Amino acid sequence: MGLLQNKVGFVTGAGQGIGRAIAISYAREGAKVVIADFNAEMGAETVQLIEQAGGTAAFIQGDVSKEDSVKEAVDFVVATYGRLDIACNSAAVSRGSGPIHEFERSVFDQTLQMCLTNTWLCMKYELAAMLQTGGGAIVNISSNSSLKGHAFNTAYAAAKGGVNILTKSSAAEYGAQGIRINAVSPGVIRTPGIENYFKEQPDMAEGLKRAAVMNRLGEPEEIAEAVTFLSSDRASFITGQLLSVDGGGAVR
Ligand SMILES: NC(=O)c1ccc[n+]([C@@H]2O[C@H](COP(=O)([O-])OP(=O)(O)OC[C@H]3O[C@@H](n4cnc5c(N)ncnc54)[C@H](O)[C@@H]3O)[C@@H](O)[C@H]2O)c1
Repeated sequence: MGLLQNKVGFVTGAGQGIGRAIAISYAREGAKVVIADFNAEMGAETVQLIEQAGGTAAFIQGDVSKEDSVKEAVDFVVATYGRLDIACNSAAVSRGSGPIHEFERSVFDQTLQMCLTNTWLCMKYELAAMLQTGGGAIVNISSNSSLKGHAFNTAYAAAKGGVNILTKSSAAEYGAQGIRINAVSPGVIRTPGIENYFKEQPDMAEGLKRAAVMNRLGEPEEIAEAVTFLSSDRASFITGQLLSVDGGGAVR
């Protein structure tokens, strides 16, 4: 029996990268999964990968930084599979980098919206659904940029710092109601998102590629393993924690 047998899961940003690996892992461990993403083609591809492997999944297109989309997506989960037990909020977009005194206010605002506000919005509706059935587990995807700070990437680092404290505060708020809330902090992981970032910011790329003490990039599946464990009943007494999965990047 899989770790997530009989559970219903929801994963945001599962059209590619880390979110896709998490959705595949949830399904492999027996969960029925709804995936949400901007990108309909990639979302459909994730569903196909899950179904080809014998799993069960459905896709809903939407922008999870918009409240209407989030409500629609969580309603879709409950309408399709009857409940929501586990959720991973992985969707995020990092917009721009540069020194603060030259940074556009609008880009700062967008970054908060796409990395922090979206997570809060997803939690708002996921928690409401989980309260209907007496419990659940949420895992938010943070970033190692939130741990020591990230020069020239301050908006993203601050947004992910917000995700960390949102995770801890909400864990304290909902623990008594049977909902566990944790975060996973990836190091530098080989995804389409990071490959684009390396192309756009070649000056940052070399340092990032050397971030892990293990001297390699991480793979999305390595993040998915940690998220799957934290989502499962094996982690039944773990809440309010931030787990770095970073090849030791945080201890360098
Ligand atoms: N890759 C890394 O090295 C790394 C490191 C630290 C943290 N992270 C975090 O991991 C998560 C996933 O990163 P990734 O590298 O896989 O990204 P990615 O860009 O490869 O994939 C992100 C996916 O999320 C979707 N998405 C983004 N915002 C969305 C929104 N508002 N609504 C719907 N869909 C949306 C995109 O369409 C895309 O399919 C993010 O939270 C990111 O900040 C990644």
